[in-house]
Amino acid sequence: MLLGVNIDHVATLRNARGGVEPSVEKAAEIAENNGATSITTHLREDRRHIKDEDVYALSQILKTRLNLEMAMADDIQAIALDVKPYSICLVPEKRQEVTTEGGLDVAGQLAKVTEFINPLLDAGIIVSLFIDPDEEQVKASAKTGAQFIEMHTGAYAESFGYKEEEEEFQKLKKSAELAQSLGLQVNAGHGLNYENVHRMHEIEGLHELNIGHSIISRAVFTGLAEAVSKMKEMIK
Ligand code: PXP
Repeated sequence: MLLGVNIDHVATLRNARGGVEPSVEKAAEIAENNGATSITTHLREDRRHIKDEDVYALSQILKTRLNLEMAMADDIQAIALDVKPYSICLVPEKRQEVTTEGGLDVAGQLAKVTEFINPLLDAGIIVSLFIDPDEEQVKASAKTGAQFIEMHTGAYAESFGYKEEEEEFQKLKKSAELAQSLGLQVNAGHGLNYENVHRMHEIEGLHELNIGHSIISRAVFTGLAEAVSKMKEMIK
């Protein structure tokens, strides 16, 4: 199973001060040097973390693949067509949300989704649709021409360790099987962390996991000891 690392929250930290530190390019380089098979960034409508220039810079320096998460917005589509990332993942987006809540409603707007992704597919960009693990959404996704779905693992992650876990997990497993039987490749992500990720191995043929928040959160602590002792040494 491949690991795509989402580096949005490196940009969140950088933007807290408005400077250039920590560098998203450096974060991508470290992730790639340690096994990431792709780098994911979400260019949100309000540009709260990743900015246009980050996407352009990453597209120049990545040794692996750039996966651009984006909403169905014409201006972001224009950027995608200009940058030509390896892949895009279409996500729903609400301005007020803290992070992507729920999957894209493909079944409810099949014609709109199909029309929106067509120019991206024509440009040779791989298209993935971020959907809830739901039969109707999987079936609709297979009709759009997208090559991938990314299953929203948020409900599974939230239920992990509780009685609902098995039910949520089975939705993922069944949706992956259905998607694969319809010719789609299957990724998964959202809310996966060091405790709950191991069950993804029970889903056969999962291509790639896209993980962000838990990796960046862990990095704060695994890196803090060195950062403090280095500063202590500098001011001795
Ligand atoms: N996949 C998609 C489509 C997402 O929107 C996100 C969050 O930006 C992720 C994966 C990663 O989620 P997390 O940061 O919870 O690992």
